[in-house]
Amino acid sequence: MIDGETKVLGIFGYPVSHSLSPIMHNLAFKETGLNFVYVPFPVKPSDLEGATQALRTLGILGINVTIPHKEKIIPYLDDISPEAKIIGAVNTVVNREGRLIGYNTDGEGFVQSLRAKGISLDQKEILVLGAGGAALAICVSLVKEKIKRLVLINRTYSKAIKLADRLKGIAPRVNIEVFEYSERNTFPGHNRINLLINATSLGMHDEDPAPINLQNFPSSVYVYDIVYHRKTKLLEEAEKRGMMHQGGLDMLVFQGALAFEIWTGKKAPLYKMKKVAEESLRRKT
Ligand code: ATR
Repeated sequence: MIDGETKVLGIFGYPVSHSLSPIMHNLAFKETGLNFVYVPFPVKPSDLEGATQALRTLGILGINVTIPHKEKIIPYLDDISPEAKIIGAVNTVVNREGRLIGYNTDGEGFVQSLRAKGISLDQKEILVLGAGGAALAICVSLVKEKIKRLVLINRTYSKAIKLADRLKGIAPRVNIEVFEYSERNTFPGHNRINLLINATSLGMHDEDPAPINLQNFPSSVYVYDIVYHRKTKLLEEAEKRGMMHQGGLDMLVFQGALAFEIWTGKKAPLYKMKKVAEESLRRKT
């Protein structure tokens, strides 16, 4: 029940009505007995500075940040984590007595969601498709692990090169290679890939084809598609071929659980958060 002691949290986005975070976090607060409430805030781009200042004025304890504010909010914060600085984007803000601190839990959420499935990254050869914001967050966390090789492929080649340069700057010892999009099914050593990650937005729409042909990859490859709205063609194909696979809902739940832990200092009720997010998604689709 909301009373005089209730603390407010929420999400800044535009639009924001599709977000699963309110359902997930409100359930998590209930499960952990916290007198917190989480609400969606549709913040227009031109209102971002005022809305961020309002976090201090209104004593809002924390927010998630989504499209289109993840990068633009940074100048209005008092400090950001080293990870958020490298990525250049924030998805979580905590208000510590008026000081706004930004974090990015997307990449760590991704890695933790793999670990939760028992997948180790040690000595793995990994292909990441895409070079946008999601790919960057994931790769920044991947290069911190003991991986053997990271292959980057993106439709726009120059963006893959730029991403590789950035990653080499923070992890000079990691073996990072870039190939043209046309080589995505046949690049040298493709048959040694252990983990294949779709970090493009291809798959978000019903009619989207799979971004890659799994026929060319070993059946032992683990396929991770960060798209969470649906079972994508890529995941259907992986299933058909008996390849282990995982969809983006896990990444969403784990990034949310990490945000919950930053705000509350408590362990997130992960399993329940995932269940309610799945149910909500099923109702929406
Ligand atoms: P996000 O923050 O979700 O990563 P983004 O920064 O807009 O979103 O990046 C979208 C990614 O999906 C990019 O890598 C984009 O490729 P380009 O850099 O060439 O634009 C990729 N992408 C989007 N539509 C695609 C398509 N039809 N085929 C292949 N890649 C696509």
